[in-house]
Amino acid sequence: MVKFHFYICSISPCLRPTLEKCLKEVEFPFETEIVYHHRLQTPEDQIREELKKADVVIAEPHIAHLLSNPQESCPKLRWFQSTFAGVDHFMNMKPCPYAPDLVPLPFALTRGAALFGPGMAEYAISMMIAVQRNFFTLKEAQMKKESPYSIRECATTFPLLSQLTVGILGASGSIGQDTARRLYVLGCNVWGLCRRHRKEGEPLVTPQVESPLNARLPPADQCFQKLVALEDDDEKQSLLRSFLSGVDVVINILPSTPDTNYLLGGRIDKDGKPIPSPLEACKPHCVFINIGRGSIISEAAMVDVLKRKCIRHAVLDVFEKEPLPATSPLITELSTDMITFTPHTSGLPQHDNYMEHLLSKNLQLFKEGMIFEQSEEAKAKGEKWAPKMIYQMDFKEGY
Ligand SMILES: NC(=O)c1ccc[n+]([C@@H]2O[C@H](COP(=O)([O-])OP(=O)(O)OC[C@H]3O[C@@H](n4cnc5c(N)ncnc54)[C@H](OP(=O)(O)O)[C@@H]3O)[C@@H](O)[C@H]2O)c1
Repeated sequence: MVKFHFYICSISPCLRPTLEKCLKEVEFPFETEIVYHHRLQTPEDQIREELKKADVVIAEPHIAHLLSNPQESCPKLRWFQSTFAGVDHFMNMKPCPYAPDLVPLPFALTRGAALFGPGMAEYAISMMIAVQRNFFTLKEAQMKKESPYSIRECATTFPLLSQLTVGILGASGSIGQDTARRLYVLGCNVWGLCRRHRKEGEPLVTPQVESPLNARLPPADQCFQKLVALEDDDEKQSLLRSFLSGVDVVINILPSTPDTNYLLGGRIDKDGKPIPSPLEACKPHCVFINIGRGSIISEAAMVDVLKRKCIRHAVLDVFEKEPLPATSPLITELSTDMITFTPHTSGLPQHDNYMEHLLSKNLQLFKEGMIFEQSEEAKAKGEKWAPKMIYQMDFKEGY
């Protein structure tokens, strides 16, 4: 009898009961063994041992470096379900599946997408309001035992949400759509930036596994006043600058890829000169909220655009270097009215069975693949499962 070894390596112990439930639900027809390790409480050597035995891994992508030389590190692995949406940790794997190497992975990698969007959208919206209405400045005064009336004027002039144009970078993706839908119902004017021009007849945004949390929201494609694609290399910089110059708030939700890294600042041209940050094109009152990845802009470029007042304020949940060291110039060189930090917590799932919906759909597809592989016909022809899973990574695109 074929036996499948499932290895869960996560900070979230609830994934074990979730997996057991999903295996039952999809009537997984093979014998299974499940091992759970808390990722932060398990020595790396022990994780390596489990990876050697695993057919399926459900884990945070932080362990990607342990999968280097997969023939040795995880010879049986067929499917890695990431519990995170961003899997850029796989850039640390050797050989690297990302461009320019593009060495194909011998297993399917699926992202934990469609799990974080509602929480991240609420984070971005609440930060947008807090900054526009100077709530943090008022709190600071209170902490210094000052009366809020001493700085009353800072809270008397602010735009309404319906007066704001909000630009989402990565708008056609899972989290971008969740954010756009919520901004739209609050009356904002929503602009989106994506990568690919849609063909005629193709949906404006990429279809998603719909979350029950979105039940009362309008469809995403109705929520954008405009959607700009950055596909054309020659026009990329001017398109990006023109997009940024028209918005009052920028929300970055781009994945980290070779194409997006340092897109907003920190790039060097072919003569070794720094390329100016496109954030220079923003209106001076613009608020920048980064919930995608810290690699979108270097620390130095972020400090520079804020010091030169190219934008009013930055709210950062993600950083070039994580965890953010207390010695970072973002902390030491900028005043609190310029910048606000949170420790990569914008998108934490709020309930124990958050993976169930996605895991059960992908498990069903995996089951079908394994039944096919075990069939006499496939065995005779030596045919293998060609994975087509939900939110499967496409390394040619980089996300
Ligand atoms: N802070 C947190 O706690 C947290 C939590 C979860 C995720 N994240 C981050 O959020 C990212 C996005 O997640 P997602 O699930 O929404 O991803 P997704 O569904 O893959 O969406 C990616 C979006 O980025 C666009 N894009 C990709 N490369 C681009 C480029 N070179 N130029 C312009 N647009 C580009 C895509 O455009 P097309 O549709 O045209 O391809 C799409 O709109 C993750 O990769 C992760 O880094 C952060």
